Amino acid sequence: MKDLFGKALQDYFNNNYTEDLITSTNISGEDELPIPYLFRSYSEMPKLEQKALQLAKGNVLDVGCGSGSHSLYLQEKGFKVRAIDISEGAVDVAKKRGVEHVEQKDILKETDTFDTILLLMNGTGIFQEVSQVSKYLNHLKSLLNPGGQILIDSSDIKYMYEDEDGGLWIDTNANYYGELDYFLSYKGEEEEKMKWLYLDFERLQLACEAVGLQCEKVLDGEHFDFLVRIT
Ligand SMILES: C[S@@+](CC[C@H](N)C(=O)[O-])C[C@H]1O[C@@H](n2cnc3c(N)ncnc32)[C@H](O)[C@@H]1O
Repeated sequence: MKDLFGKALQDYFNNNYTEDLITSTNISGEDELPIPYLFRSYSEMPKLEQKALQLAKGNVLDVGCGSGSHSLYLQEKGFKVRAIDISEGAVDVAKKRGVEHVEQKDILKETDTFDTILLLMNGTGIFQEVSQVSKYLNHLKSLLNPGGQILIDSSDIKYMYEDEDGGLWIDTNANYYGELDYFLSYKGEEEEKMKWLYLDFERLQLACEAVGLQCEKVLDGEHFDFLVRIT
Protein backbone atom coordinates (compact mmCIF):
# COMPACT_ATOMS: atom_id res chain seq x y z
CA MET A 1 0.00 0.00 0.00
CA LYS A 2 1.37 3.43 -0.93
CA ASP A 3 -0.81 5.04 1.73
CA LEU A 4 -2.03 7.81 -0.58
CA PHE A 5 -5.03 8.21 1.75
CA GLY A 6 -2.66 8.94 4.64
CA LYS A 7 -0.55 11.26 2.46
CA ALA A 8 -3.65 13.25 1.55
CA LEU A 9 -4.55 13.61 5.24
CA GLN A 10 -0.99 14.70 6.05
CA ASP A 11 -0.97 17.25 3.21
CA TYR A 12 -4.23 18.74 4.41
CA PHE A 13 -3.04 18.87 8.01
CA ASN A 14 0.27 20.46 6.94
CA ASN A 15 -1.44 23.16 4.86
CA ASN A 16 -0.42 21.53 1.56
CA TYR A 17 -3.99 20.97 0.39
CA THR A 18 -4.12 21.54 -3.36
CA GLU A 19 -6.38 18.77 -4.64
CA ASP A 20 -8.83 16.09 -3.52
CA LEU A 21 -8.61 12.30 -3.63
CA ILE A 22 -10.06 10.70 -6.76
CA THR A 23 -11.99 7.47 -6.25
CA SER A 24 -13.61 5.03 -8.66
CA THR A 25 -14.94 1.49 -8.54
CA ASN A 26 -15.43 -1.40 -10.95
CA ILE A 27 -19.06 -0.25 -11.44
CA SER A 28 -18.70 3.54 -11.30
CA GLY A 29 -16.58 6.29 -12.78
CA GLU A 30 -14.36 8.85 -11.10
CA ASP A 31 -15.55 10.83 -8.14
CA GLU A 32 -13.85 13.36 -5.89
CA LEU A 33 -13.52 12.64 -2.19
CA PRO A 34 -13.05 16.09 -0.64
CA ILE A 35 -10.24 15.91 1.90
CA PRO A 36 -11.79 18.57 4.21
CA TYR A 37 -14.67 16.10 4.71
CA LEU A 38 -12.22 13.73 6.40
CA PHE A 39 -11.61 16.46 9.02
CA ARG A 40 -15.30 17.11 9.75
CA SER A 41 -16.53 18.48 13.04
CA TYR A 42 -19.57 17.05 14.85
CA SER A 43 -21.92 19.59 13.25
CA GLU A 44 -20.62 18.69 9.78
CA MET A 45 -21.12 14.95 10.27
CA PRO A 46 -24.05 13.10 8.74
CA LYS A 47 -26.93 12.34 11.15
CA LEU A 48 -25.95 8.65 11.22
CA GLU A 49 -22.52 9.46 12.60
CA GLN A 50 -23.89 11.97 15.09
CA LYS A 51 -26.33 9.30 16.29
CA ALA A 52 -23.52 6.75 16.65
CA LEU A 53 -21.53 9.22 18.75
CA GLN A 54 -24.58 9.91 20.93
CA LEU A 55 -24.96 6.16 21.56
CA ALA A 56 -21.34 5.65 22.59
CA LYS A 57 -20.79 4.43 26.16
CA GLY A 58 -17.88 3.22 28.29
CA ASN A 59 -14.47 2.75 26.75
CA VAL A 60 -14.45 3.10 22.99
CA LEU A 61 -12.47 1.64 20.09
CA ASP A 62 -12.57 3.74 16.90
CA VAL A 63 -11.69 1.33 14.08
CA GLY A 64 -10.28 2.91 10.89
CA CYS A 65 -10.12 6.26 12.67
CA GLY A 66 -8.74 8.21 9.69
CA SER A 67 -7.81 11.71 10.89
CA GLY A 68 -9.54 11.00 14.21
CA SER A 69 -12.66 13.19 13.94
CA HIS A 70 -14.94 10.79 15.84
CA SER A 71 -12.30 9.98 18.45
CA LEU A 72 -11.60 13.66 19.11
CA TYR A 73 -15.26 14.42 19.68
CA LEU A 74 -15.68 11.54 22.15
CA GLN A 75 -12.39 12.30 23.89
CA GLU A 76 -13.55 15.89 24.44
CA LYS A 77 -16.77 14.50 25.95
CA GLY A 78 -14.67 12.60 28.50
CA PHE A 79 -14.75 9.10 26.99
CA LYS A 80 -11.73 6.85 27.13
CA VAL A 81 -10.97 6.28 23.44
CA ARG A 82 -8.51 4.08 21.57
CA ALA A 83 -8.16 4.81 17.85
CA ILE A 84 -6.58 2.43 15.34
CA ASP A 85 -5.93 2.58 11.61
CA ILE A 86 -3.75 0.64 9.18
CA SER A 87 -2.70 3.90 7.51
CA GLU A 88 0.56 5.32 8.87
CA GLY A 89 -0.34 8.80 7.61
CA ALA A 90 -3.78 8.69 9.22
CA VAL A 91 -2.31 7.67 12.57
CA ASP A 92 0.28 10.45 12.34
CA VAL A 93 -2.42 13.05 11.68
CA ALA A 94 -4.80 11.72 14.35
CA LYS A 95 -1.97 11.92 16.87
CA LYS A 96 -1.06 15.48 15.85
CA ARG A 97 -4.72 16.52 16.04
CA GLY A 98 -4.73 15.41 19.67
CA VAL A 99 -6.07 11.84 19.76
CA GLU A 100 -4.33 10.56 22.89
CA HIS A 101 -4.36 6.80 22.32
CA VAL A 102 -3.84 6.06 18.64
CA GLU A 103 -1.96 3.20 17.08
CA GLN A 104 -1.18 1.88 13.61
CA LYS A 105 -2.91 -1.49 13.78
CA ASP A 106 -5.15 -3.77 11.76
CA ILE A 107 -8.44 -4.48 13.56
CA LEU A 108 -7.70 -8.21 13.33
CA LYS A 109 -4.62 -7.61 15.51
CA GLU A 110 -6.54 -5.85 18.28
CA THR A 111 -6.90 -7.89 21.48
CA ASP A 112 -8.23 -5.54 24.19
CA THR A 113 -11.92 -5.36 25.02
CA PHE A 114 -14.28 -2.40 24.78
CA ASP A 115 -17.81 -1.26 25.65
CA THR A 116 -18.28 0.44 22.27
CA ILE A 117 -16.64 -0.35 18.95
CA LEU A 118 -17.16 2.26 16.23
CA LEU A 119 -16.74 1.59 12.50
CA LEU A 120 -17.90 4.70 10.66
CA MET A 121 -17.99 6.00 7.07
CA ASN A 122 -19.21 2.75 5.60
CA GLY A 123 -17.69 0.62 8.32
CA THR A 124 -18.50 -2.70 6.61
CA GLY A 125 -15.97 -1.73 3.91
CA ILE A 126 -13.20 -2.95 6.21
CA PHE A 127 -14.55 -6.54 5.89
CA GLN A 128 -13.64 -6.31 2.17
CA GLU A 129 -15.72 -9.23 0.91
CA VAL A 130 -18.70 -11.35 1.89
CA SER A 131 -16.55 -14.43 2.53
CA GLN A 132 -14.72 -12.53 5.31
CA VAL A 133 -17.71 -11.06 7.14
CA SER A 134 -18.03 -13.84 9.73
CA LYS A 135 -14.29 -13.73 10.45
CA TYR A 136 -14.46 -9.98 11.17
CA LEU A 137 -17.72 -10.22 13.14
CA ASN A 138 -16.40 -13.07 15.28
CA HIS A 139 -13.26 -11.08 15.98
CA LEU A 140 -15.22 -7.92 16.84
CA LYS A 141 -17.42 -10.04 19.12
CA SER A 142 -14.30 -11.22 20.99
CA LEU A 143 -13.40 -7.56 21.66
CA LEU A 144 -16.72 -6.71 23.34
CA ASN A 145 -17.07 -6.37 27.10
CA PRO A 146 -20.28 -7.88 28.53
CA GLY A 147 -23.12 -5.57 27.48
CA GLY A 148 -20.91 -3.99 24.82
CA GLN A 149 -21.97 -2.77 21.39
CA ILE A 150 -20.67 -2.36 17.86
CA LEU A 151 -21.92 0.72 15.98
CA ILE A 152 -21.38 0.38 12.26
CA ASP A 153 -22.78 2.06 9.15
CA SER A 154 -23.22 0.74 5.63
CA SER A 155 -25.21 1.35 2.44
CA ASP A 156 -27.39 -0.82 0.26
CA ILE A 157 -25.86 0.06 -3.10
CA LYS A 158 -28.45 -1.75 -5.23
CA TYR A 159 -29.38 1.69 -6.59
CA MET A 160 -26.00 1.84 -8.34
CA TYR A 161 -27.19 -0.95 -10.65
CA GLU A 162 -30.41 0.78 -11.70
CA ASP A 163 -30.87 1.92 -15.29
CA GLU A 164 -32.95 4.94 -16.31
CA ASP A 165 -36.18 2.90 -16.38
CA GLY A 166 -35.66 1.73 -12.82
CA GLY A 167 -34.64 -1.79 -13.94
CA LEU A 168 -31.74 -3.54 -12.22
CA TRP A 169 -28.80 -4.97 -14.17
CA ILE A 170 -27.34 -7.06 -11.34
CA ASP A 171 -25.71 -10.24 -12.68
CA THR A 172 -27.12 -12.94 -10.40
CA ASN A 173 -24.22 -15.26 -11.28
CA ALA A 174 -21.64 -12.73 -10.17
CA ASN A 175 -20.42 -12.09 -6.63
CA TYR A 176 -22.61 -10.18 -4.16
CA TYR A 177 -23.48 -6.77 -5.64
CA GLY A 178 -22.00 -4.85 -2.69
CA GLU A 179 -18.49 -6.28 -3.22
CA LEU A 180 -16.55 -3.64 -5.11
CA ASP A 181 -13.04 -3.10 -6.38
CA TYR A 182 -12.08 0.34 -5.16
CA PHE A 183 -9.48 2.53 -6.82
CA LEU A 184 -7.96 5.64 -5.33
CA SER A 185 -5.57 8.19 -6.81
CA TYR A 186 -3.99 11.32 -5.45
CA LYS A 187 -1.77 13.94 -7.08
CA GLY A 188 -1.27 11.74 -10.15
CA GLU A 189 -0.34 8.56 -8.23
CA GLU A 190 -2.50 5.44 -8.15
CA GLU A 191 -3.04 3.34 -5.03
CA GLU A 192 -3.08 -0.44 -5.26
CA LYS A 193 -6.54 -1.84 -5.91
CA MET A 194 -8.56 -2.34 -2.73
CA LYS A 195 -11.65 -4.37 -1.97
CA TRP A 196 -14.50 -2.56 -0.27
CA LEU A 197 -17.78 -4.08 0.93
CA TYR A 198 -21.18 -2.42 1.13
CA LEU A 199 -23.60 -4.74 2.98
CA ASP A 200 -27.37 -4.35 2.84
CA PHE A 201 -29.14 -4.49 6.21
CA GLU A 202 -30.70 -7.95 5.77
CA ARG A 203 -27.40 -9.56 4.83
CA LEU A 204 -25.58 -7.89 7.70
CA GLN A 205 -28.31 -8.98 10.12
CA LEU A 206 -28.14 -12.60 8.91
CA ALA A 207 -24.35 -12.61 9.19
CA CYS A 208 -24.62 -11.31 12.77
CA GLU A 209 -27.18 -13.94 13.73
CA ALA A 210 -24.94 -16.65 12.29
CA VAL A 211 -22.19 -15.75 14.77
CA GLY A 212 -24.53 -15.24 17.74
CA LEU A 213 -24.81 -11.45 17.58
CA GLN A 214 -27.95 -9.35 17.47
CA CYS A 215 -28.22 -6.58 14.93
CA GLU A 216 -30.81 -3.80 15.04
CA LYS A 217 -31.15 -0.88 12.69
CA VAL A 218 -30.84 2.40 14.56
CA LEU A 219 -31.36 4.92 11.77
CA ASP A 220 -31.73 5.23 8.03
CA GLY A 221 -29.61 7.88 6.32
CA GLU A 222 -30.53 10.10 3.41
CA HIS A 223 -29.19 7.93 0.61
CA PHE A 224 -29.65 4.18 1.18
CA ASP A 225 -27.22 4.33 4.09
CA PHE A 226 -28.04 3.11 7.59
CA LEU A 227 -26.58 2.73 11.07
CA VAL A 228 -26.84 -0.49 13.06
CA ARG A 229 -26.15 -1.46 16.63
CA ILE A 230 -24.77 -4.95 17.11
CA THR A 231 -24.82 -6.58 20.56
C1 LIG B 1 -13.46 5.41 4.72
S1 LIG B 1 -12.10 5.67 5.77
C2 LIG B 1 -12.95 6.31 7.18
C3 LIG B 1 -12.09 7.14 8.08
C4 LIG B 1 -12.80 7.70 9.33
N1 LIG B 1 -13.47 6.68 10.11
C5 LIG B 1 -13.79 8.76 8.93
O1 LIG B 1 -14.99 8.54 9.09
O2 LIG B 1 -13.38 9.85 8.49
C6 LIG B 1 -11.68 4.00 6.27
C7 LIG B 1 -10.45 3.91 7.17
O3 LIG B 1 -10.28 2.56 7.59
C8 LIG B 1 -8.91 2.23 7.58
N2 LIG B 1 -8.83 0.76 7.52
C9 LIG B 1 -9.06 -0.06 6.46
N3 LIG B 1 -8.92 -1.35 6.78
C10 LIG B 1 -8.59 -1.38 8.10
C11 LIG B 1 -8.30 -2.43 9.04
N4 LIG B 1 -8.32 -3.72 8.65
N5 LIG B 1 -8.01 -2.12 10.31
C12 LIG B 1 -7.98 -0.81 10.71
N6 LIG B 1 -8.23 0.24 9.87
C13 LIG B 1 -8.52 -0.04 8.59
C14 LIG B 1 -8.38 2.99 6.37
O4 LIG B 1 -6.98 3.17 6.43
C15 LIG B 1 -9.16 4.30 6.46
O5 LIG B 1 -8.48 5.26 7.24
